[in-house]
Amino acid sequence: MTKIIAPSLLAADFANLQRDCEMLNESKADWFHIDIMDGVFVPNISFGMPVLKAIAAHAKKPLDVHLMIVDPDRYIETFAALNAAVLTVHYEACTHLHRSLQKIKASGMKAGVALNPHTPVALLNDCIQDIDVVCLMSVNPGFGGQSFIEQTYAKVKALKKLIEESNADTKIEIDGGVTDQNAEALVDAGADILVAGSFVFKSENPIATIETLKQL
Ligand code: DX5
Ligand code: ZN
Repeated sequence: MTKIIAPSLLAADFANLQRDCEMLNESKADWFHIDIMDGVFVPNISFGMPVLKAIAAHAKKPLDVHLMIVDPDRYIETFAALNAAVLTVHYEACTHLHRSLQKIKASGMKAGVALNPHTPVALLNDCIQDIDVVCLMSVNPGFGGQSFIEQTYAKVKALKKLIEESNADTKIEIDGGVTDQNAEALVDAGADILVAGSFVFKSENPIATIETLKQL
């Protein structure tokens, strides 16, 4: 599988969201990565449903929605109605993760689970076959523009091993601090999906930057 590039709209210009959505439509980006934060699970608030609705009206590619919120089960149907293709919940925010995954799939979306940097991959041993995407956080969630945590490479390898040994079809996504300096090594270690916020949107030519990531 060729890698999927999912630019994070968290780093977009919110006063020019339509322009930035159209830029992603024209680019080689595969997915739109959407970060929803509640100020409780993470120490920041990003945006919620009305803004996602505005993005969805212009996006011509799958919406990869990353929920950094407590008790995400409350909003699974809402995000399905907003056209999310992948809905990712945090392991640390779900008391009944298996039930949450079933609910996401029953609502017609791919089910993702994100792990904070301190959360070991082995905690997914008993549900890996139920997960479409594991999102390994390579920064502490809550903010864009942070530095990549090097320990992520070991986690990618451990997760890849778990997926292969379980004969699962799970994809590995990396979120946080992704640049042209680590993208290739991450894919070599087993990553399938790269999220990049600042590296794309703060660059002089985002379309060219996305192409660079895609080709690495
Ligand atoms: C962080 C978010 C990321 C963020 C990545 O909590 O989940 O998706 O937008 O931004 P960069 O690529 O700037 O680290
Ligand atoms: Zn994210």
